[in-house]
Amino acid sequence: MGYFTTLATAVAWTTLLTANVCHAYHHAGLAASSIIARAQDLLPSYDYIIIGGGTAGLTVADRLTEDPQTTVLVIEYGPLASSSAITTVSGGFYGLSSPYLYDIMSVPQLNLGNRTTAVMAGKIVGGSSAVNAMMTVRGTAQDYDRWGSFFPNKTSDWTWDGLLPYFKKALTFAEPDPAVKESAKMTYNTTFWGKGSSGVYAGWPSFQYPGTTAQMDLYKHIPGVEFPGDSGAGRPGVYWFPTFMDPNRVERSYARTGHYDDQKKRSNYHLIADSRVTKIVLNGTTATGVAFIPAGSKQYTNTTTVTARKEVILAAGGIHSPYLLQLSGIGPQRVLTEAKIETVVDLPGVGQNFQDHPMLMATYQYRSLPSSWKPSPEYMFSNSTFQSWATTLFNTNRTGPLSIATGNAAAWLPFPVISPRSRSISSLLTSQNHSAHLPPNTHPTVAAGYAAQMLSLATALRQNNTAFYNAVITGGASTGLIVDLHPLSRGTVNIDPQDPLAKTPVVDYRALNNPLDVSIMTDILRFTRNFHINNTATAQLRPVEIIPGQDVQTDQDFADYIAESTSPSEFHPVGTCAMMPRELGGVVDEELKVYGVNRLRVVDASIMSTLPGGNTCQTVYAVAEKAADLIGYGAKLKRG
Ligand SMILES: Cc1cc2nc3c(=O)[nH]c(=O)nc-3n(C[C@H](O)[C@H](O)[C@H](O)COP(=O)(O)OP(=O)(O)OC[C@H]3O[C@@H](n4cnc5c(N)ncnc54)[C@H](O)[C@@H]3O)c2cc1C
Ligand SMILES: *[C@@H]1O[C@H](CO)[C@@H](O)[C@H](O)[C@H]1NC(C)=O
Ligand SMILES: *[C@@H]1O[C@H](CO)[C@@H](O)[C@H](O)[C@H]1NC(C)=O
Ligand SMILES: *[C@@H]1O[C@H](CO)[C@@H](O)[C@H](O)[C@H]1NC(C)=O
Ligand SMILES: *[C@@H]1O[C@H](CO)[C@@H](O)[C@H](O)[C@H]1NC(C)=O
Ligand SMILES: *[C@@H]1O[C@H](CO)[C@@H](O)[C@H](O)[C@H]1NC(C)=O
Ligand SMILES: *[C@@H]1O[C@H](CO)[C@@H](O)[C@H](O)[C@H]1NC(C)=O
Ligand SMILES: *[C@@H]1O[C@H](CO)[C@@H](O)[C@H](O)[C@H]1NC(C)=O
Ligand SMILES: *[C@@H]1O[C@H](CO)[C@@H](O)[C@H](O)[C@H]1NC(C)=O
Ligand SMILES: *[C@@H]1O[C@H](CO)[C@@H](O)[C@H](O)[C@H]1NC(C)=O
Ligand SMILES: *[C@@H]1O[C@H](CO)[C@@H](O)[C@H](O)[C@H]1NC(C)=O
Repeated sequence: MGYFTTLATAVAWTTLLTANVCHAYHHAGLAASSIIARAQDLLPSYDYIIIGGGTAGLTVADRLTEDPQTTVLVIEYGPLASSSAITTVSGGFYGLSSPYLYDIMSVPQLNLGNRTTAVMAGKIVGGSSAVNAMMTVRGTAQDYDRWGSFFPNKTSDWTWDGLLPYFKKALTFAEPDPAVKESAKMTYNTTFWGKGSSGVYAGWPSFQYPGTTAQMDLYKHIPGVEFPGDSGAGRPGVYWFPTFMDPNRVERSYARTGHYDDQKKRSNYHLIADSRVTKIVLNGTTATGVAFIPAGSKQYTNTTTVTARKEVILAAGGIHSPYLLQLSGIGPQRVLTEAKIETVVDLPGVGQNFQDHPMLMATYQYRSLPSSWKPSPEYMFSNSTFQSWATTLFNTNRTGPLSIATGNAAAWLPFPVISPRSRSISSLLTSQNHSAHLPPNTHPTVAAGYAAQMLSLATALRQNNTAFYNAVITGGASTGLIVDLHPLSRGTVNIDPQDPLAKTPVVDYRALNNPLDVSIMTDILRFTRNFHINNTATAQLRPVEIIPGQDVQTDQDFADYIAESTSPSEFHPVGTCAMMPRELGGVVDEELKVYGVNRLRVVDASIMSTLPGGNTCQTVYAVAEKAADLIGYGAKLKRG
């Protein structure tokens, strides 16, 4: 059935697009200077020890060390490394071909023909922000209000209104070139953005393909599609969004450049790289320090311990934060006992409630592009005149098409807009026996939390305030990648009972375990087909469907195609240390403190109880900024 049926092919396609410019220039790496190179040079104790020098970890470290009295140590598994694979913005996907990723495969996915999937996450100072595709987006307001809704007796402000100041603080918005803005009719609204409060930038390329605006306009023919004036407005619709890019250097802007490179001269901010944390050290149920394998040690039993006077802060990401809690004896007793780890705190939610955005392939081409759509993105791999122009332009002036990462426009649409059966699917979800779709022996509190999430999403399915559908707009053919923004299935990330430390965590997406995901994805594919080839607005483009192909027609055809082609991950792992009440299987409370443990918080993507309807990085930065405030330092001080 068709070709191009795997994500790998799609990524290869994206890479091909710009392959011949990959090594066109090489960024001179920053010297590793104030980094603590040897474990014996560490202080015996720090106020805070942060596990994981990634997106959230470096953000919190930066904010806490704004107070010169506060000492912070960040321990990072990966290296402090510089590479053009990290800094290059063009194509947005060089990070994927970099050596700075974990080597983890999921367990075979029963509903995907037993396929396994690579579990992608950055293993480098900067974490996944160093390897991601640089799409700078937020979810809708309802996504963040949903997090707060699980806490009937609010003690903190986990809502859209409560997070908006942190979204603003987290990034410095740089406006696009006025000429590009005007020619592409770009819209944005600086009300939703900060300026100068962060070293991480939301920037824009200095070129847009002319078809992008026209392609956005095609959505005006779909009833109910909104066009919010800004990507950060908290509304679904069709809009422009920026890129995690330093506008002056025209390079990736990420946690390392924004929260470490300029801050490392602070004598109270220490970072040790190439060091794997193996355990949170507990005295009873109080976190007192961290055990890690220092750089150079080859033996995973030979650890060094460092003491945290105030708190241990876990920021190892959606895959590794639950893994480290379980290794430390904090997690579901059944899982820990099987691995012969003594249970310190029986916390059934650790590693459960695992979510990621499933991606589908659906590829369309236009056989008659109007001249106003040219040059189109396809020129970058089919037209050598255009390619060499773009390469020269970038090498001389760092402008032009090679300053584009993965594009700056997309559709994020609510379910009633894309599906004629939103009410019936919503009712089916409401009346489901929710726990029947979780693993056998799931703890009743985790099942209760899942049911609460499903009822919230059932409401969202019949409203127009939550986006369920995402397709990137390129200004030419479709990219082929369509995203289900609110999957209903839930997976697990657990330690391997056979020698947990020696092995990677066992990652099971449990893709499509809730059969309503197949119904939702079917409607996502049918909408995509109708949008491209059953739409008077696109007729003059002479569209043609390449994938899935016209032999896919019935519900069964779609179900088969979905099983064959779905990627269970858009590299957005969340939910495994969910911020929910303990009675709902939560792992952290509204202050991000781990239930049942003193002086231990989680501050990364794993605390999101449900996915936002958008790529997760900007949300992680906002969560980390709020976490720094909750911890109570740094944020009180004004930055210069
Ligand atoms: C390939 C890819 C593409 C993506 N594209 C986008 C995009 O375009 N837009 C977007 O918004 N989001 C994107 N994302 C998602 C986004 O980057 C992540 O959601 C976000 O960066 C996660 O932040 P985090 O702090 O939770 O984890 P991370 O940034 O991954 O940080 C965790 C850190 O902990 C370290 N660590 C783990 N275990 C240990 C240990 N035992 N000891 C010491 N350190 C440890 C890791 O090495 C890592 O540095 C993408 C992600 C990937 C992987
Ligand atoms: C997938 O694996 C399971 C368990 O090993 C097996 O029962 C099943 O037949 C396999 N399915 C496919 C499609 O190969
Ligand atoms: C909310 O408060 C009520 C009344 O104090 C209490 O009974 C209930 O358990 C609380 N719920 C949660 C989730 O904390
Ligand atoms: C920007 O957004 C604010 C808040 O919604 C609104 O009041 C304002 O009118 C918007 N500005 C423009 C130019 O659309
Ligand atoms: C959502 O949008 C669709 C499409 O425009 C419309 O038919 C429906 O009435 C809207 N639903 C609500 C609850 O506003
Ligand atoms: C553990 O905590 C107890 C009670 O606070 C204290 O007396 C003891 O010294 C601590 N042990 C260690 C090893 O720090
Ligand atoms: C264990 O670590 C210590 C101190 O870091 C080092 O001296 C020793 O050689 C290491 N042993 C092994 C087996 O790696
Ligand atoms: C190739 O690109 C150049 C420069 O943009 C353009 O003039 C030319 O028409 C293109 N050729 C084709 C075959 O599209
Ligand atoms: C680079 O910019 C300069 C100044 O705007 C311009 O004169 C020159 O033509 C540009 N170079 C290329 C290769 O377009
Ligand atoms: C719901 O599913 C669970 C788990 O499969 C099962 O134990 C329970 O009996 C089911 N409840 C009903 C009412 O069918
Ligand atoms: C094509 O679009 C029309 C009008 O929107 C719709 O009634 C029809 O069902 C669509 N055809 C298919 C095959 O979905």
